Amino acid sequence: MGCGTGMVTLELADHFDECLGADIYPRSLSFAQANLQLSGRKNVAFVHSDLFANAEGKHDLIVFYPWAPAEDSLPLVARFLDQAPDALDPEGTIVLITGSDSHSGDQMVFDTVTKACVSHDLRGSREFMVSYRMAQNPRSIGTISAFVLRRDGRSPSHAGLSPVRTVMNKGYAAFLARRTMAAFLHNKR
Ligand SMILES: C[S@@+](CC[C@H](N)C(=O)[O-])C[C@H]1O[C@@H](n2cnc3c(N)ncnc32)[C@H](O)[C@@H]1O
Repeated sequence: MGCGTGMVTLELADHFDECLGADIYPRSLSFAQANLQLSGRKNVAFVHSDLFANAEGKHDLIVFYPWAPAEDSLPLVARFLDQAPDALDPEGTIVLITGSDSHSGDQMVFDTVTKACVSHDLRGSREFMVSYRMAQNPRSIGTISAFVLRRDGRSPSHAGLSPVRTVMNKGYAAFLARRTMAAFLHNKR
């Protein structure tokens, strides 16, 4: 969900029979289509969709990384968490990746995810994926973390992912996909 230029979707496609990337922004989707053609993959489709409006079916793994700072993305995250459980296979996993530059923003995301877990019978764990120092305030630490959510009764344990530093480039997409797969496969066992 929110596939953008499709880099993470195309990385994840190695591990699944079929992958669907959805995004609300048509220009990103045209880049995703171009990247798909360049990749030569046959198991990926991209669709224009506001969250799950046109993303039909039940999915084994739903990944969403809204990217906006925590405070700004809360309504979108809440809407995503409201819709995603209905689009999830009973044995499926939701990976919600959120970034936060402040403790209060982080707490707000945490509260939003917790509330959604209670209303939708989801359980989960949280993996910190990246930590970084803020350029404008080096004493402040920003984080990117992944909430790994499954249906209640199939509670995942921690995948044991440790904080690392990285940069935003193609390597980053591969890195995100690898970490997502590690959390997904660990919680399937
Ligand atoms: C951080 S970017 C994702 C980048 C992507 N993972 C990649 O590899 O290029 C977040 C994406 O979410 C999309 N988005 C935001 N709101 C959305 C919505 N309501 N429905 C679908 N996609 C949305 C944005 O257009 C943007 O492409």
